[in-house]
Amino acid sequence: MHRWTVNLNTRSWLDSPEAAEVAGSLTAGQLIAVPTETVYGLAADASNGEACARIYEAKGRPQFNPLISHVESFSRAQTHGVFSPSAIKLAKAFWPGPLTLVVPRKDSSPISSLATAGLSTVALRVPAGPVMRFLAETTGRPIAAPSANLSGKISPTTADDVAADLGNSLAWLIDAGPCTVGVESTILSVIDDNVRLLRPGGLSREDIEAVLGYTVEGVPQIGGTEAPLAPGMLSSHYAPRAGVRLNAHNVKAGEALLTFGSLPVEGQNLACSVFNLSETGSLTEAAANLFSGLRKLDATGSGQICVAPIPFTGLGEAINDRLIRAAAPRD
Ligand code: TXA
Ligand code: MG
Repeated sequence: MHRWTVNLNTRSWLDSPEAAEVAGSLTAGQLIAVPTETVYGLAADASNGEACARIYEAKGRPQFNPLISHVESFSRAQTHGVFSPSAIKLAKAFWPGPLTLVVPRKDSSPISSLATAGLSTVALRVPAGPVMRFLAETTGRPIAAPSANLSGKISPTTADDVAADLGNSLAWLIDAGPCTVGVESTILSVIDDNVRLLRPGGLSREDIEAVLGYTVEGVPQIGGTEAPLAPGMLSSHYAPRAGVRLNAHNVKAGEALLTFGSLPVEGQNLACSVFNLSETGSLTEAAANLFSGLRKLDATGSGQICVAPIPFTGLGEAINDRLIRAAAPRD
């Protein structure tokens, strides 16, 4: 695996020899870890079925769980999917950004049926992270990219997180530092003008509803072997090695504590380790720190992580969603 460090504060990375090599490697069907504003993605050419198969294989991911295709612009997205007036409104308001739109797939789209898991819809995103957009634009290919972690485990927000899980499967690991948003994109299904929230994420429900002018329905959980609509529908996901205890108002001896805000939790001094998602009570900061906090506490070797209550407003909806899945019963 080659590692390429990109400084997003300059534009010089765009002309570096690595940029061309990475684009060539992607076009050749290899796997690349690519930073976005949400999490690091395990990227491959979405129009190449074999390359998509490599993603599923590297992650150990169930084949029925479809992948998001990343493109550089809304106009490119319109070559792959059918955008209703509501979908156009959302794309114009929030792209580039942490929003994925599931829309009817165009027959003429070259996106592999392995990336869409054979569905008649396609998940499209124009990320704010410039590296992914650059690769989509230079290669002219849609880029399939789930989070770059082993299936069911904690999503990666740094290049080192990616290397720990998937280092052996990658041709390139692109390191652009920690992700600014820190939780995956919000996924909305927009079929005609019927908008449903498939997964809460880095764009808050409040922001979406303000643009649409009406409330958005969530989708009820589906269990068992039924094909899930979004990863939120698999019960255990984002799971650390340790057990996870939610809504903890006190700490039991030896637990690791994931906390939020300035107030101490009862028995906090009994914790083997403490990670505060945001001392100032900022949910944006907490989202950015969530997965690295879980990884740090898991690395202490404690058998259990207890989590202080976190508000459900704004990005709190996505944070609580990920924590509930991290705490879900495992196989
Ligand atoms: O922020 C993100 O969304 C990150 C970065 C890398 O962009 N990607 C990500 O991908 O979280 P992934 O594969 O972990 O989650 C995407 C989920 C899939 O698990 C799937 O359930 C849902 O999107 N999805 C994809 N295509 C779909 C479709 N046609 N219909 C419904 N859900 C779909
Ligand atoms: Mg994921």
